[in-house]
Amino acid sequence: MAGILVLIGSPRREGNSAALAAAVVRGARAAGVEADSAFIDDHVAGFLRDCRRCRGPDGACTIGDGYRRLFFERFLPAAGVVFCTPIYWYGMSAQTKAFFDRSFCYYAASFPGSAEVIAAMSRKRIGLAIASEETYPGAALGIVHQVQEYARYTRSAFVGVVRGVGNSRGEVARDPAGPLAEAERLGRELLTRPYTDYHIDTPRRGRVWGDADQSAPPCGPAT
Ligand SMILES: Cc1cc2nc3c(=O)[nH]c(=O)nc-3n(C[C@H](O)[C@H](O)[C@H](O)COP(=O)(O)O)c2cc1C
Repeated sequence: MAGILVLIGSPRREGNSAALAAAVVRGARAAGVEADSAFIDDHVAGFLRDCRRCRGPDGACTIGDGYRRLFFERFLPAAGVVFCTPIYWYGMSAQTKAFFDRSFCYYAASFPGSAEVIAAMSRKRIGLAIASEETYPGAALGIVHQVQEYARYTRSAFVGVVRGVGNSRGEVARDPAGPLAEAERLGRELLTRPYTDYHIDTPRRGRVWGDADQSAPPCGPAT
């Protein structure tokens, strides 16, 4: 799939992260982009272990859950990925963090196919949707920073962040800031939203919007 994968890091099936994820998928499909979502805990049942002891004879992780299929069949082929996580203790949920950690098993040099894995992990378009009880902007910054660094490290484009406030299941729908509409927009635009990330020597025009030559790279940071 060269479309969008939306990963839900909450255990709650009718929860706020799931509502944000459904909105992202709706938006993507409305734009004609193939999109679907997955609850991480349907596929990931354990934390990263000591890879040296855990690897099987083929170099692959021996944790007997669905991570490998999720990672190879759905995550790696996706052009864009949106992580939807609740705030847990001012960070991302353990489910979401485990998804990142477990990828180590396959991009580490000791995995025979690591070069292909690294290539497929790179240059995606990345989005983030965060559900929290608190409205305090600082509560989400640790997660934003972590995903920002993940995107930088993988030469991906960190396209946008949506923050939805709610506590009971699905309550983000009542957030007056309208995060579900924002999430839908993120899904619609994830693969096409102009994205720039300058360096000091990046050639640039004086204006950002409006002229014909509105060239943003389709994926990945500006070089
Ligand atoms: C273990 C745990 C830790 C939480 N920590 C925070 C927190 O630090 N800040 C916050 O605003 N909300 C916190 N919450 C509330 C959730 O972020 C909030 O209920 C969110 O809407 C849940 O999303 P979900 O429905 O997708 O699970 C916490 C909830 C749980 C269960």
